[in-house]
Amino acid sequence: MAKKTSNFVCENCGHISPKWLGSCPSCSEWNSFSEREVVKEKQNRHKTDISDTLQADPVLLSEITFSESERLSTQLREFDRVLGGGLIKGSFLLLGGDPGIGKSTLMLQIARQNPGMKLFYVAGEESATQIKQRASRIGLEGEHLYIGQNTEISALIRQARTLKPDLMVIDSIQTLFSKDLNSLPGSIQQIRECSVMLQQIAKKEGITTLMVGHVTKEGDIAGPRILEHMVDTVLQFEGDKNHYYRLLRCIKNRFGPAQEVGVFEMKANGLEQVLNPSALFLTDVTGEVSGNAITCIMEGSRPILAEVQALVTPSNFGTPQRTASGFDQRRLSLLIAVLEKRTGLPFSGQDVYLNIAGGLKISDPAADLAVVMALWSSLRDKPVNGNSLYIGEVGLSGEIRKVPLMERRISEAEKMGFKEVYSPKPDTAIPGKIELKTNRFIRDLVKYQ
Ligand code: TYD
Ligand code: MG
Repeated sequence: MAKKTSNFVCENCGHISPKWLGSCPSCSEWNSFSEREVVKEKQNRHKTDISDTLQADPVLLSEITFSESERLSTQLREFDRVLGGGLIKGSFLLLGGDPGIGKSTLMLQIARQNPGMKLFYVAGEESATQIKQRASRIGLEGEHLYIGQNTEISALIRQARTLKPDLMVIDSIQTLFSKDLNSLPGSIQQIRECSVMLQQIAKKEGITTLMVGHVTKEGDIAGPRILEHMVDTVLQFEGDKNHYYRLLRCIKNRFGPAQEVGVFEMKANGLEQVLNPSALFLTDVTGEVSGNAITCIMEGSRPILAEVQALVTPSNFGTPQRTASGFDQRRLSLLIAVLEKRTGLPFSGQDVYLNIAGGLKISDPAADLAVVMALWSSLRDKPVNGNSLYIGEVGLSGEIRKVPLMERRISEAEKMGFKEVYSPKPDTAIPGKIELKTNRFIRDLVKYQ
């Protein structure tokens, strides 16, 4: 007979301890331990092996066949581009995002676009009538869409095997549970157990499975990192609550390029694809007012034009403020310091506010030059030319550095009707009619403007 009957497990990372601890030694989370009954070894084994009839013998790599045609198009061009061409049969995906961002809407939209696809939508969060309401809002009849209401994993797997859908959507993984475990749905053990079983059904039975997951306040997809390791593809749906655009970002992709983005706009009747996102984030005031400068950033392989807005005003308090939204605040302070030191522009005693128009978040260093120009423009109260684009990373000596994929950025600028691009000298000649104004240092640029 087993001696011990219970132990304590961290709900955050799954660390097991024989006694209760205030802080987890593994993930440093506080108050995360809860008591768990230790069941006999035999019963405690998880039920991952969902099929014993399937072949599991080793096979030669050369004998495995695969063709690109096995990709299943979602008929949503933006979704397909993020996946690298469509869904791979039998792949296991995770879609994360803040509550209310539009994850469930996006899933129903896939159903609407694909009347020929058999879809099994497991609704753990909403009732069938709520889904019906939402579906009618986006114009989805749903003759090929099965709504599952059962969130117990082994029953769910049985249903999936009977239905054999082309795509199974779990909305969300936090609502699933296994009756063999004592913990509540959403706890680490439940998430781990349920997702291992779903992984098996995806891999062994070839049912493409997409799990929707919540994002914790730290930005991780809840059910700490384990899910991200287990799946083939991690997608993140993000956007600003105050704006209508949504970015679908690929964080991990075993079957295609990662870092691709798709752009959608939330409308009254669902999400609409934005095929030309460059126009989305620009205002039409650059060139008329001071403090604005336009750049071209890369999101994956896609160029997007972005507008940097700066406001420099005399400070009323001792320590001047530096506030940035959509841009790294420390990078802003660094660029201000470079401007002060290398061009002599006086920023001490000035408050600086920086904003990226349209709620876009920028991490591409190519935007540095536009930030510098927006700061200069606001400080001097002189607008920059509304037909110019500023592309380049700014170094500590005030030098303007090259950024990758210059050709794509410039052709996007040309497509959008811009006349000139300020940048460092590119390695190769860039075809097109756009005028390239190359400078080595920011001091030269500031002097000419
Ligand atoms: P939802 O898909 O429920 O988000 P999630 O599953 O990520 O929690 O999206 C809900 C939000 O989307 C809600 O604020 C209303 C809005 N919405 C629209 O603006 N138009 C629509 O057609 C739909 C269906 C939702
Ligand atoms: Mg939802």
